Amino acid sequence: MRAIVVERYGVLPTVQEVAEPEVAAGGVVLKVESTGLCRSDWHGWQGHDSDIVLPHVPGHEVAGTIAAVGDGVQGWAVGDRVTTPFICACGECEQCLEGNHQVCPNQLQPGFNYWGSFAEYVALPFAAVNLVRLPEGMSFDTAAGLGCRFATSFRAVHQVGKVQAGEDVVVFGCGGVGLSAVMIAAALGARVVAVDTNPGALELARKYGAAEIVQAGPDAVEEIRALTGGGPRVTMDALGSNEIVQQALRVLRPRGRHLQVGLLPDGVRLDVSRVIGQELQWLGSHGMAAHTYPEMLGMVASGVLRPADLVTRVIGLDDVPAALDELSAGTPAGVTVIRPSGVLG
Ligand SMILES: NC(=O)c1ccc[n+]([C@@H]2O[C@H](COP(=O)([O-])OP(=O)(O)OC[C@H]3O[C@@H](n4cnc5c(N)ncnc54)[C@H](O)[C@@H]3O)[C@@H](O)[C@H]2O)c1
Ligand SMILES: [Zn+2]
Ligand SMILES: [Zn+2]
Repeated sequence: MRAIVVERYGVLPTVQEVAEPEVAAGGVVLKVESTGLCRSDWHGWQGHDSDIVLPHVPGHEVAGTIAAVGDGVQGWAVGDRVTTPFICACGECEQCLEGNHQVCPNQLQPGFNYWGSFAEYVALPFAAVNLVRLPEGMSFDTAAGLGCRFATSFRAVHQVGKVQAGEDVVVFGCGGVGLSAVMIAAALGARVVAVDTNPGALELARKYGAAEIVQAGPDAVEEIRALTGGGPRVTMDALGSNEIVQQALRVLRPRGRHLQVGLLPDGVRLDVSRVIGQELQWLGSHGMAAHTYPEMLGMVASGVLRPADLVTRVIGLDDVPAALDELSAGTPAGVTVIRPSGVLG
């Protein structure tokens, strides 16, 4: 099959012919119909993830049809249309039994722990725990985002941040994670302020429900304070940037919640005195457990959430090296998905 192969960190990957994955007991092999290009793939390519072993096939935000079913898997058949949280949880450990699959210590992530979905086929372990059936009428391009960034933002904003109607929420970084968060927070009735360096991303944020948009930069804190009557109750770092973290913690109202979704491979210096004195909450959020997808899918079915609107660009496997490279300099506005079959229709 054709796949994107990374041979050295930071060096452009190439499209190569590699062996198709074999189906394992308890797992399935998916024909990849659509797979999102997430900044976490860029982090992996840059060598920021110690789980990756080279040569490597990236890709973790995936939707497709089941091509093979492993021994012991019940309720799933060849041809079923599915997605999966990128955190494939074991379903049996203490965390999983408590419902917290997103922090399962036995988790396997395609595109990080093993070869991922920038390929015609990808293997998925623990199928009974993680597979999510796609609603009829949902396209694969839309569903891909449910595997990582849309679901991650749903968990961050709703399950972890517990954003309430009427609250001011500032989303720093309006790429795949941030635009999803804007849409989800607005749907929950929050007043969303979107911050980005890219005017095109800010325009999309406005379209997806931001009440206010702010150009990123040193003046952003003052502008956000003015727009939120002294500071928001919730901030979100949807890029992964020390500058954003510092601005977010400065601008939060006392007792505010900060949602950290963007990865920070070099760490950050936290003003802990301020976190204590203002009783700020620093909240990490990681993916979302498959068993909590029904609430999100219900909001999609009722039209409250419209993830289909987020996809702005469809590319083929041959375009992936250049698209990854592009992320070193910035992010084109919107969400890019890849169709490994090459049919861009
Ligand atoms: N915690 C998780 O489970 C999880 C899941 C998915 C992604 N992530 C991480 O979330 C982050 C975002 O991923 P993505 O795919 O949405 O990224 P992206 O590249 O699509 O979006 C980043 C956005 O930030 C904007 N930006 C750049 N500099 C900025 C600045 N100084 N201030 C404000 N905005 C700025 C860009 O213009 C872009 O719109 C990445 O670090 C990714 O690895 C984490
Ligand atoms: Zn991702
Ligand atoms: Zn587990």
